[in-house]
Amino acid sequence: MAAVLAPSILSADFSRLGEQIKEVEAGGAAMIHIDVMDGHFVPNITIGPAVTAAVRKVTGLPLDCHLMIEEPDRYIDDFAKAGAEMISVHVEVLRHLHGTVQAIKSLGVKAGVVLNPSTPLSALDEILGDVDFVLMMTVNPGFGGQVLIPSVLPKVRHLRERIDERGLDTRIEIDGGVTLENLDEVVATGVDMIVAGSAVFGDDPQASTAAFVRRLAELAEDGHGR
Ligand code: DX5
Ligand code: ZN
Repeated sequence: MAAVLAPSILSADFSRLGEQIKEVEAGGAAMIHIDVMDGHFVPNITIGPAVTAAVRKVTGLPLDCHLMIEEPDRYIDDFAKAGAEMISVHVEVLRHLHGTVQAIKSLGVKAGVVLNPSTPLSALDEILGDVDFVLMMTVNPGFGGQVLIPSVLPKVRHLRERIDERGLDTRIEIDGGVTLENLDEVVATGVDMIVAGSAVFGDDPQASTAAFVRRLAELAEDGHGR
């Protein structure tokens, strides 16, 4: 099955956000990745539940909210109410990760956990069976337009092997520095969902999205990926 594309609106033109979301939808995006940052967990401040609710009004695509914030437990409800179908939280900030994952799922929202590039897979050992997806950061979180950290790709491959060994249906999402140039290598790790921001939201988001989707279909046809 082909991996799917989740454009990250962090790199969109916020003065035309609705239009740009429609463009990536027309190009074949499978979901919309919303990067939430609080200026504490990461140095940047971006958007929150209000913009998520506004995005909800312009697209029927699943909203994939990536919470790069301290104390995410305080905001899960708000993002669920704003229309998020997927909420991911960083293992690095959570004392009670199992509780947070259960809280997300109790709202009918798909629960994801996020690993920063240097956080080992072992952080997932006791939670992997509870989550719907794992978001693997291939950049240090905080900004779009960074270069993918290649040493993370083997970690993604290992995660795919662990999931398959345990017979789980946990999905893997990869996030940071993905471009058309490194897409084949990224897909070879066995990933299911691919976030791309700056590589999509350039001159022609619809055409960029379509180029990603076309290549993902070709790779799946050739038997590449999971
Ligand atoms: C970084 C965000 C990523 C980022 C991806 O902290 O989590 O989703 O926006 O943007 P690119 O694809 O430009 O690296
Ligand atoms: Zn993200």
